[in-house]
Amino acid sequence: MSELPQIIAGNWKMNMTLTQGRKFIDTLASGLVGKKLARKLLLAPNFTLLSGLVQGCADIGIGLLAQNCAFQDAGAFTGETSVAMLKDVGVGYVLVGHSERRQLFGESDDLLRRKAQAVSGGGLVPIFCVGETLDQRQGGEAFEIVTKQLRSGLDGFPGEKLIIAYEPVWAIGTGQTATAEDARSMHVHIRKFLEVQFPWGEMVPILYGGSAKPENATELLAQPEVNGLLVGGASLDPESFLQIALA
Ligand code: PGA
Repeated sequence: MSELPQIIAGNWKMNMTLTQGRKFIDTLASGLVGKKLARKLLLAPNFTLLSGLVQGCADIGIGLLAQNCAFQDAGAFTGETSVAMLKDVGVGYVLVGHSERRQLFGESDDLLRRKAQAVSGGGLVPIFCVGETLDQRQGGEAFEIVTKQLRSGLDGFPGEKLIIAYEPVWAIGTGQTATAEDARSMHVHIRKFLEVQFPWGEMVPILYGGSAKPENATELLAQPEVNGLLVGGASLDPESFLQIALA
């Protein structure tokens, strides 16, 4: 079993203005005064907030995570954002294949592989998201689906810096969290996959996401191979994000 430093990553999705984001960081900074934080914190604000929040985040040791990127380097791709652009404003991590990107924006396994490779090739760390739908879980296919997503998404992955987020789709934004046992068994499964696939597979943090909140953070974080949390709704409130960070 790997003992990796835990990571708490907040995903703001399409929420927060720059003014609200700055207020959040100020509140979080005050809340962190005098606290010993054993975990690494990351925040994923919208693109328009990244350069405005980079300094405030750096001042309190929070890493900046982008919610998405293009795989192309540059060119005529209206509305897209390259890895180099993200790196230039101080982003260190990029979410790849969040289920909302897969489901609402039709991002395919093939596209996500290219994005993961572009992020890694550009010197940033992808947080590659996987997870089954409710139908797939009820049909007994959860492990198979997650394996398929990992296999196709990480085929030919060029780097050694990688984070995985296991987010069962049925638990995202629904208030319905996976049980600690569901999370544990899938994380152990993912760890085995990574160890077979990569010589450095034991070093990859595996985060759980899906209605993570202060009430369930301690139990989830105590599970073997749960190396942190990817938090959506509960990351919009600095108090609850802080409670999770300190759980
Ligand atoms: P949630 O979102 O915590 O609101 O369920 C998690 C995510 O989508 O990353």
